[in-house]
Amino acid sequence: MVPEPLTAPRLHRPGPGTVPALTALWTAVTRAGGAVGFVPDSTDEEIAAAAREVVDEVRAGRQELLTVGEPLAGVVFLRRGAGPRIAHRADVLRLMVHPDRQGEGLGRVLLDAAVARGRELGLDLLLLSARGGTGLPAFYTRLGWTEVGVFPAALDLGPDDRRDEHWFQLRLG
Ligand SMILES: CC(C)(COP(=O)(O)OP(=O)(O)OC[C@H]1O[C@@H](n2cnc3c(N)ncnc32)[C@H](O)[C@@H]1OP(=O)(O)O)[C@@H](O)C(=O)NCCC(=O)NCCS
Repeated sequence: MVPEPLTAPRLHRPGPGTVPALTALWTAVTRAGGAVGFVPDSTDEEIAAAAREVVDEVRAGRQELLTVGEPLAGVVFLRRGAGPRIAHRADVLRLMVHPDRQGEGLGRVLLDAAVARGRELGLDLLLLSARGGTGLPAFYTRLGWTEVGVFPAALDLGPDDRRDEHWFQLRLG
């Protein structure tokens, strides 16, 4: 049997270490300017509360978590549409790679894993949004996603900093 590469993402079942590890990763990404729901001066407690909340979502089966690395180097979440009209699709959420590990290909590997998981679940469509004024729209375009629209000034990053929200989709067909 060919050994699994060390960087292969895994579907993560939350344990006692999940919240602290996710909090540490999310905080490092945020402090480095990452665009995952926060701004660099968001408080530790805000980020920790969000990590607890999202891990509860995973425990409840409403979201899936794919992780890479031990210690945790990157994550991505998949949230399937709830209800019959949108059960054929899922949102790809909170793709993040630790600042010390960015540029090694882990972002691509995690996104590919989310796509593979979407296919495994029999989904037709994946959706995600990205913060304007960053390299993220170019990142998703580069990885084959289609930009389908922009909500102008939809993200409030603080006084005088409203960013566009760029919406992307990928048909799994
Ligand atoms: C966005 C992010 C996940 C990318 O992960 P990464 O591991 O650094 O990216 P990779 O090394 O896998 O790069 C994959 C490709 O995208 C390109 N790329 C990476 N970051 C990019 C950026 N900001 N802008 C444009 N292209 C980018 C790389 O050059 C590479 O292309 P190539 O293979 O053709 O050379 C990572 O930078 C990150 O965690 N950022 C902070 C969190 C964040 O903002 N997440 C977005 C949520 S929507």
